[in-house]
Amino acid sequence: MSKNALPSLLAAGIAAAAFTASTQAFAYGAGDFFTRVGVAKVEPKGDNGTLDTALGGLDVEVDDDSAFAFTLGYRFTDKLGVELLAAEPFDHGVTLDAGGGTQVGASVDHLPPTLTVQYYPLGGTNARVQPYAGIGINYTTFSDEEIDLAGADLELDDSWGAAGQVGVDLLIDDNWAVNAAAWYLDIDSDVSLNGDDIGEVEIDPVVVMAGVSYRF
Ligand code: NI
Repeated sequence: MSKNALPSLLAAGIAAAAFTASTQAFAYGAGDFFTRVGVAKVEPKGDNGTLDTALGGLDVEVDDDSAFAFTLGYRFTDKLGVELLAAEPFDHGVTLDAGGGTQVGASVDHLPPTLTVQYYPLGGTNARVQPYAGIGINYTTFSDEEIDLAGADLELDDSWGAAGQVGVDLLIDDNWAVNAAAWYLDIDSDVSLNGDDIGEVEIDPVVVMAGVSYRF
């Protein structure tokens, strides 16, 4: 594809959307209840901290995971809304690296419900492409922590942290839109092994979700 093909395609798409929007007004905005449904991938940042154990310092690497996710939201005004992200639990493989080729496997499940207040710059207009951005708070609870050490009991504490979000709806009709969204979540958790505090893991993931939006 030539260098100019993608911008040309985008321009054509936007022109087509603008043309259609001029003949149909969906007027997404104030008073709308909506849900977004899709697959979300949680991508932790690299280098998730070092734990201080009897085996020495263990460098933590938390792997990606994908799961079914959905949101529920409401638009107070044309341009301001609120959205709650929910999901089935994410299950992350974890590698604990003691150096010198010694690694210990672990895994954790977590649920990261996230509430954001959102701004829709084109809310209430006929624009078919409706971007948004939000800021808010994340709560993450961990479960099923497992570590490949006989008799060892691993636990991760719940985490509260800030959240940021960007997304876009491509409106199809009065109810449906194609959606893509991303969140940044500040997830830091205190870790204990057999009841002893061994440090903190910083997961701080980007969550990317693709799916559909439905307005009620
Ligand atoms: Ni953090």
